[in-house]
Amino acid sequence: MTTPPDAAAAATPDGDRVLLSELLGALSHALDLTEGQPWGHSVRTCLVGMRIGRTLGLDAATRSDLYYSLLMKDAGCSSNAHATAAFFGSDDHEVKRNLKVEDWTDPVRMRLFALKNAARGRGFMARVRQVLHMARADERAGNELIRIRCERGAEICRSLGFPSATIEAVRCLDEQWDGNGAARGLAGPSIPVLARIASLAQTLEVFAAREGWQRALGVARERQGRWFDPELVATLDDWADDPEWWAALYGKNALERLSAEEPEDRVVRIDEDGVDRVAEAFAAVVDAKTPFTAAHSTRVAAIARRLAGHLGLNFDETRDLYRAGLLHDIGKLGVSNLILDKNGPLSPEERDQVERHPVLTLTVVGQVSVFAGIARMSAVHHERLDGTGYPWGYEADQLGLGDRILGVSDIYEALTAHRPYRDGMDPERALGILHDLDGVALDPDVVRAIGELVGAGGIPDPDPRPAG
Ligand SMILES: [Fe+2]
Ligand SMILES: [Fe+2]
Repeated sequence: MTTPPDAAAAATPDGDRVLLSELLGALSHALDLTEGQPWGHSVRTCLVGMRIGRTLGLDAATRSDLYYSLLMKDAGCSSNAHATAAFFGSDDHEVKRNLKVEDWTDPVRMRLFALKNAARGRGFMARVRQVLHMARADERAGNELIRIRCERGAEICRSLGFPSATIEAVRCLDEQWDGNGAARGLAGPSIPVLARIASLAQTLEVFAAREGWQRALGVARERQGRWFDPELVATLDDWADDPEWWAALYGKNALERLSAEEPEDRVVRIDEDGVDRVAEAFAAVVDAKTPFTAAHSTRVAAIARRLAGHLGLNFDETRDLYRAGLLHDIGKLGVSNLILDKNGPLSPEERDQVERHPVLTLTVVGQVSVFAGIARMSAVHHERLDGTGYPWGYEADQLGLGDRILGVSDIYEALTAHRPYRDGMDPERALGILHDLDGVALDPDVVRAIGELVGAGGIPDPDPRPAG
């Protein structure tokens, strides 16, 4: 972002600029969806981790680094979703959710976990085949899934200009005190303290949400010295006497409490370009979910922005379209990769799940106050002028010019993008398909505009065909 979240940014609070905590706190719900965690997991983990940081007496600068480590800890979550679903043959959300409560450093427990989570919900033979597939895979495959996630999360934090302490905390999230963590095998004090806090905080939140806070504190104690730094676990001693704090944590206003937890002399505000950088980072999270639509969100946004300029929209409208393009498929983070990556026709239930993604997009984007004006536009990209779209079946009088531009951009990108299993359609053929729909499902002015832009070389080429 043009103004990195550093001390200089913190020193110039400005009411016109956007609170980074509010933006990331709201968008962190998309990361919760990807991880199969309950709504608000990242926000609550942040509140838990910040209490630990306060008890430790960390200075304001370090607490600021911790705060953003906690909010961004799952930034890499989508990068192993495809591989997780393929490895287990199961819904990636379900596997990830189950793994979060498993003591996966115990080899016996992990073998049982693999058996329980292979091809979940499918027939006996499918499960046997999946177990054999997993047994043939390199024994480090599971660790590699975690490593990919941590590295990707760190990369996203770097792209947003966070300080190295935050980047390293996200990279080392899954290290464990005894050195048995999956990612890099760091141990003890060589694990950055912010990563140690984040690891403990996320486990406390996961168990508290699932089995109650008493059980969460019990798990922390059981795993101290193995998973967790004993000194950090010792800071939890008086938490059992504080049921009100736990009740508030699971109250309705966790997101509202988030801003109050940011160290007050280090509050980070960003400008409009910074907001674009955050939207671009979340587009990258969406695009990493499946290799079948890699770069889709970023290219849809680029196409929509060019179309907006060509059709004479003003600066603010063009920026809105760009952001809506970046975030339009964020709801797909809540759809299993077993469905998104399926090689074959979808069942009616699977189609229902795919067609639900705009609703999730509306829910996530609609939470962000700075995106209040684009939430609906980002969500209606599958609606069509003749009412044949989904999920709401809107008609022409309910779809504005921005909505129509985004719909056309989405289709053109999907037709022309290269996939691991096929080359993208050439532009002329893709335009032919759009022309067949114009005046019926699509706006003829927008279809004509994209034709003119393509003719003038004004639409970015798709990325090269990815490896299958
Ligand atoms: Fe979509
Ligand atoms: Fe899309």
